[in-house]
Amino acid sequence: MLFVPVRHSLKNEGGSKPIERERSLNEKNSVLERKKMNKRKKITIVGAGNVGATAAHWAASKALGDVVLLDVSEGIPQGKALDLMQAAPVEGYDVNIKGTNAYEDTKDSDVVVITAGSPRKPGMSRDDLLEINTKIVKSVTEQVAKYSPNSILVIVSNPLDAMVYVAAEVSKFPKERVIGMAGVLDSARFRTFLAEALNVSVRDVNAFVLGGHGDTMVPVVGYSTMAGIPISDVLDQKTIDAIVDRTRNGGAEIVNFLKTGSAYYAPAASAIEMVQAILKDEKRILPCCVKLEGEYGYNGVYVGVPVKLGAKGLEKVLEIKLNDKEKTMFANSVGAVQELMEKVSTFIK
Ligand SMILES: NC(=O)c1ccc[n+]([C@@H]2O[C@H](COP(=O)([O-])OP(=O)(O)OC[C@H]3O[C@@H](n4cnc5c(N)ncnc54)[C@H](O)[C@@H]3O)[C@@H](O)[C@H]2O)c1
Repeated sequence: MLFVPVRHSLKNEGGSKPIERERSLNEKNSVLERKKMNKRKKITIVGAGNVGATAAHWAASKALGDVVLLDVSEGIPQGKALDLMQAAPVEGYDVNIKGTNAYEDTKDSDVVVITAGSPRKPGMSRDDLLEINTKIVKSVTEQVAKYSPNSILVIVSNPLDAMVYVAAEVSKFPKERVIGMAGVLDSARFRTFLAEALNVSVRDVNAFVLGGHGDTMVPVVGYSTMAGIPISDVLDQKTIDAIVDRTRNGGAEIVNFLKTGSAYYAPAASAIEMVQAILKDEKRILPCCVKLEGEYGYNGVYVGVPVKLGAKGLEKVLEIKLNDKEKTMFANSVGAVQELMEKVSTFIK
């Protein structure tokens, strides 16, 4: 029996009947379509310092997409990106990492993480950074909005809640596409200390931290559980209070150890958890800083609340019940953020 190889029939494609030609064209189109669909996502990280470079590392190692690392400092993003690329054969990630000083390279990014700014020094409060970082975040956002008008912004620069406001005002992006990272980190710190006290896996501890990023954050004990069991059933009040206190000062504890610079491994991992939730449309419920429009009784303020994160960015604000004490703490936190927002609004005019 004579077998005709498949390739043989493709060779005669030009002379094939219309119906066969159409099938072949459809196949070609579907390959192109698939290629288009499989196009890698593009993640820009502005600021190639400790948080930015570490975020690039997590993003690459999770192969979330191609990464562009941008900084004003010449050579730093290029050097770090090249170094990260050379780790790819060892770690086995197939993504491109480009270091640059030019915003043209960030064009059409899907997500832009803004970490540009100055970190806190010992004895310096986050608010001390206000003016300097407002100007940095303003200039960065102008460029990002110009080159990636459809991107979703994940803001990391401090003072966080005020910088989310700056990015939103300057970009004029809808609230769904301007989201701040603080609650994921603060909750991660809370979960770390709870797991340590309980001597259980961090994976089995769930906890929420609401409010502004800073001394006014509100760790919500009522929604904190060990495998669904309320932590108040498994830890005494004195231990819980000490953990809440340590969480509130979690950033300062690290600043005091490092002397120069602030925490970056957990902050970068937290920002990339948000980027992953967006790029993979995971519909994760994570505490993030977003603009409230009536939720929790506040309007126009940028503050940390539990949200659903997916392909559209902020997909839903979840309103959880707070007890009277938590409501008061949340109101204090909102008040502190509103004060900062008023101050920064003078710098961005
Ligand atoms: N939201 C949070 O929970 C959280 C956690 C940790 C750090 N932070 C904040 O993140 C920011 C970065 O921290 P870090 O430790 O990486 O600091 P870093 O000093 O190591 O890096 C900051 C980088 O930003 C760059 N930069 C400054 N101006 C720029 C501009 N106009 N355009 C582009 N790049 C610019 C600097 O050259 C530097 O490389 C700080 O504001 C810090 O307070 C926030």
